[in-house]
Amino acid sequence: MKQWQLCLELICVLLTLLLARVPGLKLISLKIPSATNVLSTVTLKCEYDLEGRKLYSVKWYKDGSEFFRYMPDYEPEIRAVKSSGINVDLKQSGMNMVTITDLQFNNSGNYKCEVSTEAPNFDTVANSSNMTVMSYPDEDPTIDGVLPTYSIGDHVSANCTSGKSKPVANMTWYINGVEVDSWQEYRQSVDEADPPGFHSMTVGLHFQVHSSHFTNKEERSSRIEIRCTSTLGESIRHKSVYSTLFRTLTSGKLAQERHVNSAGKSVSTSSSIVVLIVTLINVAYSS
Ligand SMILES: *[C@@H]1O[C@H](CO)[C@@H](O)[C@H](O)[C@H]1NC(C)=O
Ligand SMILES: *[C@@H]1O[C@H](CO)[C@@H](O)[C@H](O)[C@H]1NC(C)=O
Ligand SMILES: *[C@@H]1O[C@H](CO)[C@@H](O)[C@H](O)[C@H]1NC(C)=O
Ligand SMILES: *[C@@H]1O[C@H](CO)[C@@H](O)[C@H](O)[C@H]1NC(C)=O
Ligand SMILES: *[C@@H]1O[C@H](CO)[C@@H](O)[C@H](O)[C@H]1NC(C)=O
Repeated sequence: MKQWQLCLELICVLLTLLLARVPGLKLISLKIPSATNVLSTVTLKCEYDLEGRKLYSVKWYKDGSEFFRYMPDYEPEIRAVKSSGINVDLKQSGMNMVTITDLQFNNSGNYKCEVSTEAPNFDTVANSSNMTVMSYPDEDPTIDGVLPTYSIGDHVSANCTSGKSKPVANMTWYINGVEVDSWQEYRQSVDEADPPGFHSMTVGLHFQVHSSHFTNKEERSSRIEIRCTSTLGESIRHKSVYSTLFRTLTSGKLAQERHVNSAGKSVSTSSSIVVLIVTLINVAYSS
């Protein structure tokens, strides 16, 4: 009795394994960039495993409408649908890929690759992904307002403006390579003369120079790097400006300090200098 049951179970397991192998056709990968630049060229890739079966067709759809097919048993093997508004480069398209040139904004959408095998199986596998055609900024961002030198306590105020793009680019500030989490203002410039959807972005940065901005703790002066990046799809552009930082106070700051001292509020560098000079005189006398 027991042996019979075991045997039946074994047959069941084997049958299940065999049946599971029936849809042998497998889609391995679909490579579609999520963002592309207008007027550029993109190659969409579709990798599949026929597992010994014969290929019938590879069809590509955009938003559900076929625009390209590869059928090895037909003449010609490859065909593109002209009215689709998608410019296919036939020379660089085939069983695993389709190349689209001169990308237009209206080429944004959902792209699907569908692979079918010959009789008697007629298996079909498909997958899809979204692609957005953008217009990347064609220039690096610009930084305004940064002075060549600062001292501890000074306020730094700067603006960074991206090149025009569609949609608007993401902006990020970095101080000495460290991303600044928040900045105080941002605004999008809309120029009526630009095509719809094109904008540049300006972001402001405000901070007070602190000893932590010195890269070398020992030196009296240090170089600070203020960098801004604009990011859109695959496009990352950046601009860096450098200033020299001084630990010493500027003459303006000294005047302020003296004012504070005369009001009898605090002891600061200027009075320390006086103390130092007095000490030096004493040393000179005693020797
Ligand atoms: C897509 O946009 C291009 C350029 O703006 C235009 O020439 C074409 O007719 C549009 N195609 C479709 C299908 O809307
Ligand atoms: C389809 O693509 C998505 C995203 O790339 C992936 O997560 C999913 O597993 C794919 N499905 C099939 C059936 O290949
Ligand atoms: C693709 O775009 C469509 C239409 O905008 C949206 O409904 C869908 O969720 C998107 N799919 C993915 C995987 O992002
Ligand atoms: C940044 O832009 C704002 C708004 O246009 C302006 O008021 C400010 O003076 C600018 N700051 C610098 C440092 O250029
Ligand atoms: C901008 O950055 C945000 C957050 O990192 C991200 O979700 C968004 O997709 C980005 N936008 C563009 C246009 O790259």
